[in-house]
Amino acid sequence: MENNKRTVTCGYLRKADDGRSVTLNGWIHRKRDHGSVSFINLRDRDGVTQVVADAELSAITAELRNEYCIAVEGIVRVRPENMVNPEMPTGEIEVYAEKIIILNRSEVLPFQIDEETRANEDLRLKYRYLDLRSGGMARRIRLRSEIAFAVREWLTTRGFLEIETPTFIKSTPEGARDYLVPSRLHMGRFYALPQSPQLYKQLLMVAGFDKYFQIARCYRDEDARGDRQPEFTQIDIEMSFISREDVLTMTEGLVGYIFRKALNVQLPKRFTRLTWEEAQERFGTDKPDLRFGMELRDFAPFVEKSDFSAFKDAIEEGYRAQSEARAKGVHIAGAGVKALVVPDGGATFSRKRLEELEAYAKIYKAKGLVWFKIGMEHSIEGGASKFFASQSAEITSVLNAKAGDLVLLIGDAKRTVANTALGAIRSKLGKDLGLYDKDKFEFVWIVDFPLFKFNEEENHWEAAHHLFSSPKEEFLGTMEKDPGAVLGELYDLVLNGYELASGSIRIHDPALQKRVFAVVGIGTEEAEQKFGFLTNAFKYGAPPHGGIAHGMDRLVMLMAGESSIKEVIAFPKNTLAVNPMDDCPSEVEQKQLDELYLKIKKNTHTLL
Ligand code: AMO
Repeated sequence: MENNKRTVTCGYLRKADDGRSVTLNGWIHRKRDHGSVSFINLRDRDGVTQVVADAELSAITAELRNEYCIAVEGIVRVRPENMVNPEMPTGEIEVYAEKIIILNRSEVLPFQIDEETRANEDLRLKYRYLDLRSGGMARRIRLRSEIAFAVREWLTTRGFLEIETPTFIKSTPEGARDYLVPSRLHMGRFYALPQSPQLYKQLLMVAGFDKYFQIARCYRDEDARGDRQPEFTQIDIEMSFISREDVLTMTEGLVGYIFRKALNVQLPKRFTRLTWEEAQERFGTDKPDLRFGMELRDFAPFVEKSDFSAFKDAIEEGYRAQSEARAKGVHIAGAGVKALVVPDGGATFSRKRLEELEAYAKIYKAKGLVWFKIGMEHSIEGGASKFFASQSAEITSVLNAKAGDLVLLIGDAKRTVANTALGAIRSKLGKDLGLYDKDKFEFVWIVDFPLFKFNEEENHWEAAHHLFSSPKEEFLGTMEKDPGAVLGELYDLVLNGYELASGSIRIHDPALQKRVFAVVGIGTEEAEQKFGFLTNAFKYGAPPHGGIAHGMDRLVMLMAGESSIKEVIAFPKNTLAVNPMDDCPSEVEQKQLDELYLKIKKNTHTLL
């Protein structure tokens, strides 16, 4: 075996190696037989080298098939000028084989291994070890490793300690559903897998570790989407004795380093900032894609001067709700009528396309989608134009709309509905009309989020981020009276429309923590039972602290130019949270259930 061992990898050889005796190990990517000569493209994770085998080796080359694992001993030869392949880094040479040894054979493949595998997703996941041999997957997994290394390098050299926290923890409410692990030693008790290391990293601050990070596995039992997996990875960070500014600056430094190191891309030293409210008003979302403009504009002043009763009624209703709330000392946003100008031939949209957009807006609770088109000389045409014709010159000037543009309007008694629905249309059109450069990276910080959001279904306030984030100081006096108006020391980092990272300055005062628990309906006893270990720790000189967690999978996905995090995870789950390779989750033996005191309720089980 020893003399079959490779002396170089399949991506290594160049013109300067002409005449060298080498041994290569790898997989047969392609084989072409040209009469008495065979050309074999031999692949390993570093690249592909062309091997030439002549008639003397025909007995063995006749046996070779794709994905056989072989060793080749041979001599490096520079290819004749007209045979050079500029597409391959090793394209100037080939290896003239003297000996070929089959290390292992391969059965017929379930799909061909290409630059990207074209088979359906479940088949790719079932044979993931083959899918990972494709050039694209191999490159992305390598990029992920380089990113992880850059993270460790940057943080460690700045005094952060990498500390592991447990993955069997107490189940605490954190937003999503927990994955539970039954205890054999303690009947009826469960560990939970952490949704994030949040409480433990705060405890590490109480312990005095000052600067912590961890590339941490997190588990959330929620429905999978393109940018979500039931188990995913965070770059989790926490710091003591810092302000919000310190966390943002540190993050800009870290992310800038990762992009430089792994992609050779220079990011701006500072990222744009928007308050949560500004992001909602201008882009209709707290995850705006800033690679293109097309901002939402306020259209209410034009409605007030018109006879367009649908929107006028919505504005009225909004005012009424607002003044009723104000009488109770509560702040709500009131109505909103917002406009979106669709440029570059938006006016050519067919009625069918407009109806499709309206259906899309309705998913976001809009009651309808109103439109008109911009004609020559500031005129407006079609749709609802007759209601606004007398104001057309002012409208086109304020909206900065030109002939051939389309104007879309959504009005609602709830301003958030108008913003959110039109924001969703903005994102959709940005994608459909290709309004942005796919290779661009546009970061934006969203700051000053509301601390609480109202859960309409369950009729109570809950933490918008998590329960341990600090309110901004100016709201301390009015927090209980008007929770909806309280802004928190919260920040998200958004990249190209994706929430990449999220964090906050934490509460370190046990009395304030108690008040926040009370607003969301967690009384002293419940707080003690669920979070006692954290609140007790805070009694022993907890330092002021704060932090952030980056979705590592999302970061790698965006850096790799992909739109699903599955493309950057070696062994992900499919959309049903199943791994088609080992078929987990799977049933277990009765004996295992008995040991855990568990009984499966048959017949009540419905699969989705
Ligand atoms: P949060 O819940 O916002 O904050 O998560 C932080 C980041 O993790 C990523 N993320 C996910 N990625 C893939 N699949 C998922 N299911 C998933 N859920 C979240 C996102 C998100 O921005 N403990 C706090 C952080 C803190 O306050 O320091 C937390 O977990 O990119």
